[in-house]
Amino acid sequence: MKTLYIAGNWKMNMSPSQAEIFMQELIATMPAAHDRCEVIVCPPYLALSTVAKQIENTRIMLGAQNCHEQEKGAYTGEISAAMLADIGVKYCIVGHSERRRDFQETDTHIAKKIMALLAKNIRPIWCVGETLEERQTGMTFERIRSQVTTTLDCLKGQDCSSLLIAYEPIWAIGTGLAATPEQAEEVHSHIHHTIASYSIDLPILYGGSVTAENAESLLSREAINGALIGGAALSAQSFNTIINTAHSLIN
Ligand code: PGA
Repeated sequence: MKTLYIAGNWKMNMSPSQAEIFMQELIATMPAAHDRCEVIVCPPYLALSTVAKQIENTRIMLGAQNCHEQEKGAYTGEISAAMLADIGVKYCIVGHSERRRDFQETDTHIAKKIMALLAKNIRPIWCVGETLEERQTGMTFERIRSQVTTTLDCLKGQDCSSLLIAYEPIWAIGTGLAATPEQAEEVHSHIHHTIASYSIDLPILYGGSVTAENAESLLSREAINGALIGGAALSAQSFNTIINTAHSLIN
């Protein structure tokens, strides 16, 4: 029986006061906990403390969207894994394609962030994915393999068993054009196969235009262990519908 992870990536949306109002609605309308469905919200840094207090005694786990690889020091504007752990963060997205694109994050840089998170017992949600051009030129598998192996090679000797991978095709993010369940599943299977050579088996979430409408077709696939949701996680109604869908699939 698989566990499904339903994670909301709020990106740069919601001030602390907006987050507080949103979380009130989300908590009031969320289905009761299911022991094989993990619900994670990833607000912007500034709203983390507010949300941390609100989710005490709820099923919801707190996630961040990024961290710095160093523990402390002269890194103006940055936040460390130690700081995140201190306020109750349990998960952290790393290597999102928007950070790879806008902040030139590389696979080796991402490995350092993963190490920093693992040292603080925060589970990294490690994103990989191909561009539209890579897909159209038949490079998808090669691109994904390169992202996965470059980072895992840097993590040799680390206990990677708490990692989660999110397959997020870049062409599907924020476009309304999700991968088909078949497209997602074949890449997930490719990732499962690639990481098996490192003797690890990790949950693999799908991300990219997941909605209340398409969640069932994606989450029902054997190789898909959850969803990383952007736009649809900004509505309590659609996020809760996706959680309900996950529950119905694991019951
Ligand atoms: P989307 O974003 O659901 O809005 O496509 C997903 C993500 O970027 O994690």
